[in-house]
Amino acid sequence: MSQYLSGHIHLGDDLTSVVILDQTLLPNEVKYLTLRTPEEMFEAIRSLRVRGAPAIGICAGYCLAAIAQQRSRDLDHPRYLSELFRQVQYLGSSRPTAVNLSWALDRLLRKAIDLSDVTAPPAKIAAVLREEALSIHREDIAMCRAISEHGLTLLKDGDGVLTHCNAGPLATSQYGTALGPILLGTERGMRLRVFADETRPLLQGARLTAYELDRAGADVTLICDNMASMVMKNGWVNACFVGCDRVAANGDAANKIGTSGVAILAKHYGIPFYVLGPTSTVDLDCPTGADIEIELRDPEEIRSKFYAQPMAPAGVKCYNPAFDVTDHTLISGIITEKGICRPPYTESLSALFS
Ligand code: MRU
Repeated sequence: MSQYLSGHIHLGDDLTSVVILDQTLLPNEVKYLTLRTPEEMFEAIRSLRVRGAPAIGICAGYCLAAIAQQRSRDLDHPRYLSELFRQVQYLGSSRPTAVNLSWALDRLLRKAIDLSDVTAPPAKIAAVLREEALSIHREDIAMCRAISEHGLTLLKDGDGVLTHCNAGPLATSQYGTALGPILLGTERGMRLRVFADETRPLLQGARLTAYELDRAGADVTLICDNMASMVMKNGWVNACFVGCDRVAANGDAANKIGTSGVAILAKHYGIPFYVLGPTSTVDLDCPTGADIEIELRDPEEIRSKFYAQPMAPAGVKCYNPAFDVTDHTLISGIITEKGICRPPYTESLSALFS
């Protein structure tokens, strides 16, 4: 185990690698991977071996810090900085929607540029980037804890919560965002019932949310995505809690495909719908949800992945957006580590940064 922050993402002891828990193998196998080359790092993010907006940011920070350490041995100052810049572009292109990826990489790059002004040696820059990556990880732990506390104020004993995708500890550092209040409440002896959408096509709800909640001793019921309406109609859901990959300045929120449908159902049944995420997921440079790039993924994720044999005609046309945008008018509150933002979001979100 690393001498640095442990958990499902951490820097390797050699400081030139990153160790991650391969989330694609869960819940059947717990296997850690050591990422050494930029190509391995890119692939791990692209293939969702590490996934969830905050976790992608933490991982990207460690990846750049590890590359910075590797290159500090053989590159002189100007070439070192342009190499870091190149790697930021490369790693940043692995997934487009979660803003935490570019947020973390830019944060480290800014540190390197600041130090270059005083022509610090590459070894010194690498050490500073390592500290910055660790800070991102530490801050995420604190942010998730604060989000969990704020979110818990919206729940009472006996409540039912519906969630979509996975916004738990695996998607962050500890507690998670949407699952944080539930895990915290369960720790404190509250009885909370969770309905976890399985989340087609990649099954983050079935493979990861059900796994995390079950291990934590929470009361979790797994449902197919198309059962959410019935569960709500039965009166079993008091609130919907979901994560986010990018929140626009007007409060439109991108999250796993299917989230906006849950929000529309919640409005129909008069159930409050909350988006939970750290301020690092709020992108004030993005005016509305229409400005958020939505990742399109491999059609095989729909046609054949997870099936013993393909369940659709070979080559049938598929549309496979990884995320959708929930309109801000459907969102009852956006819960960050700084508190609960309410409409109008243009004002409440910008106040977070003032
Ligand atoms: O494609 P994924 O699994 O990375 O998508 C993850 C989500 O949509 C999560 O809900 C979001 O990143 C929030 S994680 C705290």
